[in-house]
Amino acid sequence: MIKFLVIGNPIKHSLSPKLHNYWMTNNDIKGNYQKKEVENDKLESLIQEIKKKKILGINVTVPFKNRVIPYLDKLSDGAKKTQSVNTIYLDNNKLIGHNTDIGGFELAIKYKKFDVSNKKILILGAGGVAPSIIVALYNMRANDITVSNRTLEKAENLKNLFENLKIVNWGDIPDFDMIINSTSVGLNINDQINLDLSKTGKNRFYYDLIYNPKETNFLRAAKKLGNVTENGKMMFIYQAAEAFKIWHGIWPKIDDDLIKVLS
Ligand code: ATR
Repeated sequence: MIKFLVIGNPIKHSLSPKLHNYWMTNNDIKGNYQKKEVENDKLESLIQEIKKKKILGINVTVPFKNRVIPYLDKLSDGAKKTQSVNTIYLDNNKLIGHNTDIGGFELAIKYKKFDVSNKKILILGAGGVAPSIIVALYNMRANDITVSNRTLEKAENLKNLFENLKIVNWGDIPDFDMIINSTSVGLNINDQINLDLSKTGKNRFYYDLIYNPKETNFLRAAKKLGNVTENGKMMFIYQAAEAFKIWHGIWPKIDDDLIKVLS
């Protein structure tokens, strides 16, 4: 039976197995997708299992998206640009690292029919996923992106990858049309982001990459103030769909039934 994995640490909350196993069943693919918590020293041998064809593909999540890179033979353009790999597969006996977070975010924004070009965009956070969000926004012709991170230095480092980025201190809120929470604040239901967003007006687009919990305090407060809000569920589904397409050659069906699978 063909085998796929998602690796991370921690990994027990991952919903990727649910999604991939559902799609494989619906496409009559006899496969098995599991989650595996790994330690740093087991990464290389696990990835080598793909070369031996014991595993067909691996999804990678926090904290390994960058750490897997030394064990791969080739990176896609997006993975290279972001130094972040979330999907690994074998092509011509070469281990390829790809980044489907970029396409996942793009499709999620298109799903909302939000046009990012000529909009002022504020990204909160400069962690592992931030470069993928920035590449996706530039792909969609955004031209005014500001990053704010609690640790200023990490935001400044992003300027080495993206020279047109603007950086502001944590706590400074410039005017924006769209604000994206890419921090981990909100993963715990009681988390509060210590920013005062109450004076930023309404009808802005608030996007939170977090999809579990469904509504973070960040989104709940924004909705109360009269803004449009969206969580990271569709991005999660689309990044998985792109990985599914790479491994199986099929773009899986994304409909209400599938969305319910994750509820
Ligand atoms: P990493 O920083 O190792 O890539 P991550 O989970 O990808 O980890 O990123 C976590 C992000 O959430 C970072 O931007 C982090 O800010 P710092 O760089 O200052 O650590 C942000 N973050 C986590 N807890 C936060 C908090 N309580 N307030 C504000 N930002 C927070």
